[in-house]
Amino acid sequence: MARLEGKVCLVTGAASNPGLGYAAVQLFAREGAKLAISDIDEAGLEACAAAARAAGAEVLAFRQDVTSEEGWTHAMDAIKDKFGRLDVLVNNAGIAMLKPLAEFTLAEYHRQMDVNMTSVFLGSRAAAELMREGGGGSIVNMSSIAGLVGVPGVSAYGASKGGVRLFSKTVALEYATAGVRCNTVHPGVIDTNMQQVSIRDNPEVFEQLKREIPMGRMGRPEEVAQCVLFLASDDSSYVTGSELVVDGGQFAQ
Ligand SMILES: NC(=O)c1ccc[n+]([C@@H]2O[C@H](COP(=O)([O-])OP(=O)(O)OC[C@H]3O[C@@H](n4cnc5c(N)ncnc54)[C@H](O)[C@@H]3O)[C@@H](O)[C@H]2O)c1
Repeated sequence: MARLEGKVCLVTGAASNPGLGYAAVQLFAREGAKLAISDIDEAGLEACAAAARAAGAEVLAFRQDVTSEEGWTHAMDAIKDKFGRLDVLVNNAGIAMLKPLAEFTLAEYHRQMDVNMTSVFLGSRAAAELMREGGGGSIVNMSSIAGLVGVPGVSAYGASKGGVRLFSKTVALEYATAGVRCNTVHPGVIDTNMQQVSIRDNPEVFEQLKREIPMGRMGRPEEVAQCVLFLASDDSSYVTGSELVVDGGQFAQ
């Protein structure tokens, strides 16, 4: 049986291809999920929806800026109208502003925190209550290995991802008896559009990074999607408040 058969799943930041949200959506579609997908990039979102529909999934696609509280209210309303419930939320949308601390403006810092961390607060708060009403669910929050250890050049990004990590543990504890699980995924260097931009901007840093990956290569978005699927599905029914590192061994050193 498909691992998400009949489950209603919302994935944010689904438009970018190659991207982690897009890959999760396509895997979820093959695993029998009913999908709600969102992004600010409407053209990319439509392409993601079309591919998921071609795989047989029922898909509700809508524009959503994850930093907007009102946007989350609309998202929950649209999902309730279409599917009547929500079983899985993947808080995936994110941006990476990479530069030395001294060059960061306060506005950039706030932007980084809003998109990566405030979004997770807003989304988890909205979804956890809807899931509680439905008898339970699973929230998967996308962090990073930069949310586990310090990395030069990622001060605000690392703060946002470290925040996501600890925030998720608290959600897990507050909702444990309600059957709502909450876990984080910590990718290393994965070959997506986001990563291609940072390789283009910092080619030497990337060469150094690649040498530090024990498996000697970047990860593929599909390899992260498999971890997201595990945490989203009932296969992880006793897993909450945990962190799943998917990094080719980088963090083991
Ligand atoms: N690629 C990696 O190596 C890597 C490593 C660790 C963590 N991550 C995290 O994984 C997640 C996905 O990363 P990716 O590599 O697929 O990035 P990506 O840039 O390829 O895709 C991110 C998506 O988020 C969307 N987005 C950005 N701001 C948004 C907003 N305000 N509202 C709604 N959508 C918005 C973008 O339009 C895009 O479609 C991010 O949270 C990222 O920080 C990525």
